[in-house]
Amino acid sequence: MSLTKKKISSDEINFEKNILCIGAGYVGGPTMAMIAHKCPKYKMTVVDINPDRIHAWNSENLPIYEPGLDGIVTDARGRNLFFSTDIEKGIKESDIIFVSVNTPTKTFGEGAGMASDLQYWEKTARQILDCAESSKIIVEKSTLPVRTARAMERILTSNGNHIHFDVISNPEFLAEGTAIRDLENPDRVLVGSRETETGRKARGEIVEIYRNWVPDEKIITSNVWSSELSKLVANAFLAQRISSINSISALCEKTEADISEVSRAVGLDMRIGDKFLNSSVGFGGSCFKKDILNLVYLCRQYGLNEVANYWENVVNINEYQKQRFVLTILNAMFNTLAGKKICMLGFAFKADTGDTRESPAIFIAKKLLDEKAYVIISDPKALVNAGADLAGLKGHLSFVEDPYEAAVGCDAIAVMTEWDIYQNLDYENIYHSMRKPAFIFDGRNILDHEKLYHIGFNVYPIGKRKLTHFTNNK
Ligand code: NAD
Ligand code: UGA
Repeated sequence: MSLTKKKISSDEINFEKNILCIGAGYVGGPTMAMIAHKCPKYKMTVVDINPDRIHAWNSENLPIYEPGLDGIVTDARGRNLFFSTDIEKGIKESDIIFVSVNTPTKTFGEGAGMASDLQYWEKTARQILDCAESSKIIVEKSTLPVRTARAMERILTSNGNHIHFDVISNPEFLAEGTAIRDLENPDRVLVGSRETETGRKARGEIVEIYRNWVPDEKIITSNVWSSELSKLVANAFLAQRISSINSISALCEKTEADISEVSRAVGLDMRIGDKFLNSSVGFGGSCFKKDILNLVYLCRQYGLNEVANYWENVVNINEYQKQRFVLTILNAMFNTLAGKKICMLGFAFKADTGDTRESPAIFIAKKLLDEKAYVIISDPKALVNAGADLAGLKGHLSFVEDPYEAAVGCDAIAVMTEWDIYQNLDYENIYHSMRKPAFIFDGRNILDHEKLYHIGFNVYPIGKRKLTHFTNNK
């Protein structure tokens, strides 16, 4: 008997299910990698129209940074996880299709700036219809306006070719930076369907996938509309908590109350809970703003103006918080930033990701450039995206990965992202390399403010007393 193990090609394996995901982004890639990792019996194929993205998924340099992702991708890739640009073949061969394409805010026409831009979604539906040769379950993984499943069904039944499609809603709740942990151990998995015989059967098939690793009590089912709406509402509630605490941070700065103390006291009430009560320069990320605006737009469409106004204020407070931060910098630095060097520590919208979509740092950097400041941006993972976000802007802008180097000769540091490394920098050393008076604006409240003050910095946290060396401490 030969001891050499023969490598079995994927063509020789009889996979239990062929699962396709259209859209190889922050959701499609990690989500399908996790299913492949947990279920070697399924063949998972992830397709995208962007060949560069697919190339990156097939390389050592994955297109997104996410702790723990490399391991699970390399474990399954080539075994039961495949990345390809051949969408047509993928559709033909699959039993189940997850659709995880982008659904950004519309930038044109009716609903511009509010409604969801469903063009990528609709193109996918039409492509499925054109290519499918057998019945399939279509799973909405993207975040969509409530009642999108009906539009999808209408497209999929439009050519009367007797192929049956069931449309299921299975929204994704992962957060970037913790995606792998969230996928491995989700708070809940939600699967919604039409309450028909085939709808319930299709829902059962999707539930079966997750039952491979998620405990039954965490898999919940509902009707398809509740599922679609729950996703928008979950994001709206999370963002609402941040805007609530951020609104109170403004009051703290006027009254000498301390936002961390208030947040702790409030969050210890079990009914309120302590999560998502960290005051900050504002929430970012590709979804909170777009999903709330989508909710606002939907409410207005149904004539629910009071409801729409209520949720819109969550976004308004977030804009206010970002503006407030810039004004604090301007006022503290004697109302002129022209020619002053400001080092932004962090550009990603949160720690442990290279994603900068809707990052508050984009807004702040633009405003500082408008004031003719010299802006030096530092981030361990997001400099490429930062460069793209700020491309073409006039002014003095540079990108320096090493935070010590970035701060040399600066008048001020503004902490934008709560990366762990920023907590443990040698600020004594940094202080000596800066122009005086030196300022720190801690947009995440992650630094030791007393210690920085004693080093010599003038310190401006969020929602807390500022600590300055100026004699009139106003
Ligand atoms: P993304 O932009 O990173 O990825 C979307 C991908 O879809 C892109 O690579 C794009 O090229 C591809 N695509 C677009 N049209 C296509 C088509 N017709 N055929 C094939 N590929 C196509 O977006 P994302 O962050 O992964 O988000 C996707 C969806 O998931 C959105 O609806 C978002 O709201 C939702 N969501 C995102 C997160 C997150 O953390 N990013 C979490 C939960 C839900
Ligand atoms: C968020 C949700 O947490 C996910 O459940 C959801 O799936 C996802 O949106 C989505 O639909 O895209 P994400 O945006 O990746 O995930 O990250 P969060 O951890 O929610 O942070 C969002 C923003 O809020 C970040 O800018 C973060 O710094 C900020 N934040 C968060 C605060 O300012 N304070 C907090 O207490 C928490």
